Amino acid sequence: MITSIGLENVVVAETDLSLVDGQKGQLVYRNYWARDLALEHSFEEVAHLLWYGHLPSADELAVLKEKLAGEREIPFHIKSIIDAIPENADMMSVLRTAVSALGTPDHGWPPTMEQVISLTAKMPTIIAYRYNRLQNKEPKAPRADLGHTANYLFMLKGKEASEAQVRALDAYLILTQEHGLNASTFTGRVVASTRSDLVSSITAAIGALKGPLHGGAPSEVTDMLEAIGTKENAEPWLRAALEKGERLMGFGHRVYKTMDPRAVALSKVASSVAQDDPWLDLATHVEKVALKLLEEYKPGRGLNTNVEFYAAAVMRSIGLEAELFTPSFAVSRTVGWSAHILEAANNRLIRPQSIYTGTIPAE
Ligand SMILES: CC(C)(COP(=O)(O)OP(=O)(O)OC[C@H]1O[C@@H](n2cnc3c(N)ncnc32)[C@H](O)[C@@H]1OP(=O)(O)O)[C@@H](O)C(=O)NCCC(=O)NCCS
Repeated sequence: MITSIGLENVVVAETDLSLVDGQKGQLVYRNYWARDLALEHSFEEVAHLLWYGHLPSADELAVLKEKLAGEREIPFHIKSIIDAIPENADMMSVLRTAVSALGTPDHGWPPTMEQVISLTAKMPTIIAYRYNRLQNKEPKAPRADLGHTANYLFMLKGKEASEAQVRALDAYLILTQEHGLNASTFTGRVVASTRSDLVSSITAAIGALKGPLHGGAPSEVTDMLEAIGTKENAEPWLRAALEKGERLMGFGHRVYKTMDPRAVALSKVASSVAQDDPWLDLATHVEKVALKLLEEYKPGRGLNTNVEFYAAAVMRSIGLEAELFTPSFAVSRTVGWSAHILEAANNRLIRPQSIYTGTIPAE
């Protein structure tokens, strides 16, 4: 029997959706560089590529946009459920509960494109509804005339965001739509492999994304940068953390042993939306010092900047608060999760084994 703790280097599926090349630092979505898609296309166009297998024609794009826009409203009972969740619950827990409650008898097996579109369309509305309720603001109804990302920002901020802000968030959301069999996508595929429904798979995936070693990292990057505070404090702070055996958030990746291509693309986006932002200046300095110290304390481990480091910078620069970072990641990754679930609909049950290390009773 082959043992691989953490399933490192174990292949459990074939996919047409993406190639994550950890040695070359490359990310491909169905024959396109993800970095090019992020800069040249919209959220809906890339979702179409992942779901249907090709970039849309103008007509196909119009149809998809209309379908997504038509599914944004969340039903009354979902709003009541969100309102009943204690105020101190974190946004990912709210999202998980609300998505779970979307499951109805007609959400059965096999998953359909209509279910996928409906769920993807509702994610931003759930987050914005909760966000506004906690701030005692009247939640804004979704606007059908805006694209997915522009509408998300509109519902959060209560006014239309600038084009530069929409482009920056669009780039982040595209770069994080899909990433092979990461922990949350794998989780979703495991649930789907039992022929459970789409809502159950996505609910489970949200639970996996919530953890700080996966999607929970960007808000911890912000905490780290706030604790560091000044450029002068970067080296002593980071050194002290590494001396204590702590992990530096926003660095390291299971697959990428060189630069994470999403971090490279996002650092450019961050510089374009936040040129004179002192916070970005601090982040760039901290990155440089952290990479030097990681090489000193963990030589040969291939620890580099990952997507979460610059995700924090981009989202902060467009005025999103830290509590919205991981939920925004869920907004984009729903596309990849659902594409995998559709692709895996007829796959074999995923069922690995464990080695029993306890004792055996006498017969
Ligand atoms: C992403 C991550 C979970 C990948 O973990 P992994 O593949 O299981 O890596 P391992 O836990 O096997 O780590 C390998 C070595 O690098 C070290 N390491 C990994 N990431 C590190 C980090 N961010 N800071 C300091 N050391 C780190 C580990 O301590 C380990 O050291 P050792 O060989 O002395 O035991 C890990 O790099 C991490 O925790 N990063 C911080 C959280 C983060 O940014 N997550 C977002 C990912 S996109």
